[in-house]
Amino acid sequence: MHEKKTILTGDRPTGKLHLGHYVGSLAARVRLQEKNRQFVMLADAQALTDHADQPDKIRQSILEVALDYLAVGIDPCKTTIFIQSMVPALPEIMLYFLNLITWNRLKHNPTVKLEIQQKGYGEEVPAGFMTYPVSQAADIAAFKADIVPVGDDQLPMIEQCRELVQKFNRMYKTQALVEPIAVLSNVARLPGIDGKAKMSKSLNNAIYLSDTADEVSKKVRGMYTDPNHLRVEDPGKVEGNPVFTYLDAFATDPAKVLELKEHYQRGGLGDSVVKKYLLEVLQAFLEPIRHKRSLLSQDPAGVWKMLFKGSETASLVAGSTLAEIKASMGIDYKVSC
Ligand code: TRP
Repeated sequence: MHEKKTILTGDRPTGKLHLGHYVGSLAARVRLQEKNRQFVMLADAQALTDHADQPDKIRQSILEVALDYLAVGIDPCKTTIFIQSMVPALPEIMLYFLNLITWNRLKHNPTVKLEIQQKGYGEEVPAGFMTYPVSQAADIAAFKADIVPVGDDQLPMIEQCRELVQKFNRMYKTQALVEPIAVLSNVARLPGIDGKAKMSKSLNNAIYLSDTADEVSKKVRGMYTDPNHLRVEDPGKVEGNPVFTYLDAFATDPAKVLELKEHYQRGGLGDSVVKKYLLEVLQAFLEPIRHKRSLLSQDPAGVWKMLFKGSETASLVAGSTLAEIKASMGIDYKVSC
């Protein structure tokens, strides 16, 4: 029998979500919410660790990302969607966790190292940024998540969380905290429309869930294909050709995709024909999402209320774990005479 698991995932709200997010995580969340206890966190406090000067952008993105969640079918009746900064137990758990990890260990987290390099921090890395893996460990431990579906860049975070949970349970002789398991969610990473490995806002190569039909059409027409497929008669390459990768991810008729691939490889099939079909496929996929999103966006107060309610539920769960943490440590002081 399927055992109900607790799942926590989260996104830093720094902009609206795109098709890569859908393939990498949103589709799994819609599926997983049916049979599990799922929490999805808008990690605003974590986003601030490298956007301290842009709280407005984070606030606006919370609404955009929440709209994206709801539009793709993450259902607040089945999934608790909440805002990290509205759960006060999280930074408190982090505070106790910070004592269980060394500075040296933090310095060697490969994802953080890479990000420090990319952001050009050098020695001037904000302490909040340096310690965000501990904050993330607190998020995961607070909900006693069994499973954390993540991209491979997040594996070091889950590893650090496991170490912290082990250390906490050992040091304070308790079983209170649960060691999470990482489940890789982005096995099929969607390339950018320019053929680069990843869709990303900074590369300006993404198709957003909220793009208009016109925007999608323009982006598909301009998509990178096989650069050596110059004339229609030429045989073309399917591997590494994002038009086909997108078809694999979104087309509902695999026989038709196979036929197109074979024709393309043989020669005689123009890029524009394949793109036309991809556009149909993407519009069919995106239209209901766009429609739902636009209806929901007319009631932003309703969306915020949903988030507040989720944050209250999340605060109860995390607050109860915090109480256990303090009791395990013996710092649950009570008046005694
Ligand atoms: N660091 C994650 C990201 O950048 C977001 C995140 C924050 C998260 N807390 C989390 C993911 C807890 C999973 C569990 O995508």
